Amino acid sequence: MPIETALSFIDPQQAQDADLLAIPFGKDLTAQVELPVPLPALLAHHEAKGESGEVVEVPVAHGDGVRRVLLYGIGDGGPRALRKAGALLARRAKGRRSIDVTLPQDAGEAGWSALAEGALLASYTMRIGASRTKAVEEIRFSGPEEARQVIERAEVVARATGLARDLSNTPSSEKNPAWLAARAVEVAERAGLTAKVWEPGDLAAGGFGGILAVGQGSASPPRLIQLSYEPEGHDGGHIVLVGKGITFDSGGLSLKPTEGMKFMKTDMAGGAVVISVLGALRELGVRTRVTGLVAAAENMPSGSAQRPGDVITHYGGRTVEVLNTDAEGRLVLADALAYADKELEPDTIVDLATLTGAISIALGRDVGAVFSGSDDLAKELLDAGTRSGDPLWRMPIIDEYRPGLDSAVADLTNIDFENTYGGGSITAALFLREFTGGRRWAHLDIAGVSRTTADDGILTKGATGFGTRLLLDWLTSGRS
Ligand code: BES
Ligand code: MN
Ligand code: ZN
Repeated sequence: MPIETALSFIDPQQAQDADLLAIPFGKDLTAQVELPVPLPALLAHHEAKGESGEVVEVPVAHGDGVRRVLLYGIGDGGPRALRKAGALLARRAKGRRSIDVTLPQDAGEAGWSALAEGALLASYTMRIGASRTKAVEEIRFSGPEEARQVIERAEVVARATGLARDLSNTPSSEKNPAWLAARAVEVAERAGLTAKVWEPGDLAAGGFGGILAVGQGSASPPRLIQLSYEPEGHDGGHIVLVGKGITFDSGGLSLKPTEGMKFMKTDMAGGAVVISVLGALRELGVRTRVTGLVAAAENMPSGSAQRPGDVITHYGGRTVEVLNTDAEGRLVLADALAYADKELEPDTIVDLATLTGAISIALGRDVGAVFSGSDDLAKELLDAGTRSGDPLWRMPIIDEYRPGLDSAVADLTNIDFENTYGGGSITAALFLREFTGGRRWAHLDIAGVSRTTADDGILTKGATGFGTRLLLDWLTSGRS
């Protein structure tokens, strides 16, 4: 289990017996528990105003002993504030057996689920290592009966995010394309999906020249993974999610420097999100058909690696002159996008990829990028990002930069070699667009947001799982 902490919803009466109890307080709220000192005096003493991020710990007589009550500030009571509060409570409960959390009565669906997601995600721990602090074993929520189902759904979303983190945090010595395919098949079996995996021979027979070219330098051959979710009595729509699944990106012969290579085990973060999202759809009762594609390869330099100047033929026949083997994500995605366009008849395609270092220069580490020619699709995703706490910023696709990808020997090059136009994340999006057949499509560049350097709030050092909550929010409630 990625997140070991158990979560449950209990009767408010039971919560009164807990030895660690968390109670909300806000500007106008009083705490529903007997305190040794009147609440206003207590808060004044701690200079607490009810903002999210504040926790006042009070020892309270309990039976023959003492128990700890954590008064937690809920700020404006909105999802953002409660997500943060949930994370803080879970961190305060580290190493303990259990914590009982009283939900703020009026927070509503969005607030309750944010609190629960925050608490579970902050409890995520990487599996390896004996010296880690144990997360709290159990978090028990109590509150209005309507909150029960909300908490259950929040748990599904948080565990899916935990799975995405786990897949990304796994070292590349273990995580090669075959391993990733095996994990996807496991998820499919558990979640009632059909899985199909293309082995190298199938990729060659099918004409997936991009995935094969990127993978040809590695001792661990590439895979294309397809997961299909087809609910009974679906609404007739069909969404395809495409993830970049580079299980390690050395750059290939266009080798990365030491610094740039350090964290490249997470270069399959987009693929991890696709697998984890597909794995949660049935439990969340999504009514639309969804197909996930993960283009998995290890980008390595060797005697059999592709060379700068090679020309490859993608699925569907477009040719590409590879001028930089480190621009490999777009090569594997091109095959998957073309396959989705030509074979799957989707109404909408969304791809997720740790595609360009340039996007973290543009947007930093907190906000992901969305590129789309469709204003309504961009808006749906931006809104889902705001609601879910995986925020996006819309970037432009600038047609004037497209000549940067013109090739003398093929249909296009994989980079703007002379850097005539700059905007490396935009030219990457322009490259991908060539393979989408004019369909309704969005590209999420998550290179800046898929990894974090410190434990902070709901994030834990390492992979973030960015995109899982966003897409699950979009698929469950955010589409027009
Ligand atoms: N996987 C990298 C992008 C990346 C960089 C992800 C930093 C996360 C953190 C991608 O394959 C890559 O190498 N992109 C190149 C593109 C360039 C060669 C046009 C880059 O960003 O330098
Ligand atoms: Mn690369
Ligand atoms: Zn890469």
